[in-house]
Amino acid sequence: MPAHLECITCHKQFPINQVLYQCSQCNDLLDVAYTFGSPDPKRLKVDFLNRKLSPVPQDQSGVWRFRELLPFLDRFDSVISLREGNTPLWEVPRVAREAGLQHLAVKHQGMNPTGSFKDNGMTTAITQAKLLGARTVLCASTGNTSASMAAYAARADIRAVVLIPEGQIARGKLAQAIDYGATVVQIQGNFDHAMQLVRELSGEGGAYLLNSINPFRIEGQKTIVIELMEQRGWRPPDRIVLPAGNLGNCSAFGKALREMFDLKLISRLPKLTLVQAAGANPFAQMIRSGSRNLIPMQADTLATAIKIGSPVSWKKALRALEWTHGDVVEVTEGEIADSRALLARDGVGCEPASASTLAAILKLSREKKLMFSEEVVAILTGHHLKDPEYILEYHEGKLSHKGAIIPARYQNSLHTVAAESQALKKLLFDHDK
Ligand code: F0G
Repeated sequence: MPAHLECITCHKQFPINQVLYQCSQCNDLLDVAYTFGSPDPKRLKVDFLNRKLSPVPQDQSGVWRFRELLPFLDRFDSVISLREGNTPLWEVPRVAREAGLQHLAVKHQGMNPTGSFKDNGMTTAITQAKLLGARTVLCASTGNTSASMAAYAARADIRAVVLIPEGQIARGKLAQAIDYGATVVQIQGNFDHAMQLVRELSGEGGAYLLNSINPFRIEGQKTIVIELMEQRGWRPPDRIVLPAGNLGNCSAFGKALREMFDLKLISRLPKLTLVQAAGANPFAQMIRSGSRNLIPMQADTLATAIKIGSPVSWKKALRALEWTHGDVVEVTEGEIADSRALLARDGVGCEPASASTLAAILKLSREKKLMFSEEVVAILTGHHLKDPEYILEYHEGKLSHKGAIIPARYQNSLHTVAAESQALKKLLFDHDK
């Protein structure tokens, strides 16, 4: 098979089916690496598209229909799939106008089976888990990974154990993980503590770790950007903007772009712009200081999905930034909250962490760092209904951070009237007279 595991630093190679999350020589992160050969890029593009018309499950999956770019399996007929991927790319004219851009598009990964981009990576990682004979799969999570892992583990008939920071994940995500039958354990600590604990627990009783430190997660998440290129007729945009927490997704984007370029599927690399909340910005701090050493911090943001102070994949993220000449932008709680609500006025809902992308685009535009004609795509990572409490508090004018209310620029109030038509007419039409 033309696939192996390879350390990103010392390049030591390991067999593809060895259970390993870090290099045994230098402890650094691992890639799934391939010898691709030189397939005809035109043929690949036709095959990817034609599979959408096939009734075969692995062809209908928006991950596995790109399988020539994830050839770590000998055969693809027993993959664990929920027909993930195939997510929409939408123009958002209202936000584009506000950002002074001719066009702005969002690719909505919240339209996945469990409502987040994690499904793209979970189908590949759980398939590998099954192949390796894992009896238990394990993750730490700010919510979406746990929801996704719980669903895919249920499909694969593998026990799922998730560790979450108590009281710090959105209710929608918690409901999903419990409902899909996972063993859900709240810890009295933050995500970074949970991550440390699952790393210590992996291997116990055959437990296999499914956080994005597992390189098979990254493989599936590559298809988000592969599919984006397909949707744009294989014409890369100028810039792709995505939220950055544990830094797995941007690592996947960097790897996918490099591989697509090497395989001549695209002719240039778009710039990656990574976005962190100002209260959870260890990577942004590192880049700003010009250092090559990430200093962990105590994270604090209402965008709980990216409330991470010690991201495990920062070296891969740095590599992705270097490959794409990318940058990192920090945004405030108020900017995230208003951007999320503004996007909803375009008829597109998303969870707070996802809206950080639009907050960054608006900020770059205010700072005159975007050109009118620049082609920008924002990745919306999670579904509108993951965190309804945040949305309602925003519109009720109750959303607060560190004891201060966040002013709501796009507030919409809820009305209550008596159940009779006079009262309704007065409320709805009186101002027209
Ligand atoms: N957006 C959402 C909605 C997320 O759930 C996450 C991460 C990110 C962005 C950041 O992606 O970690 O690859 O940089 N959520 C993880 C979780 C940590 O446990 O669900 P990243």
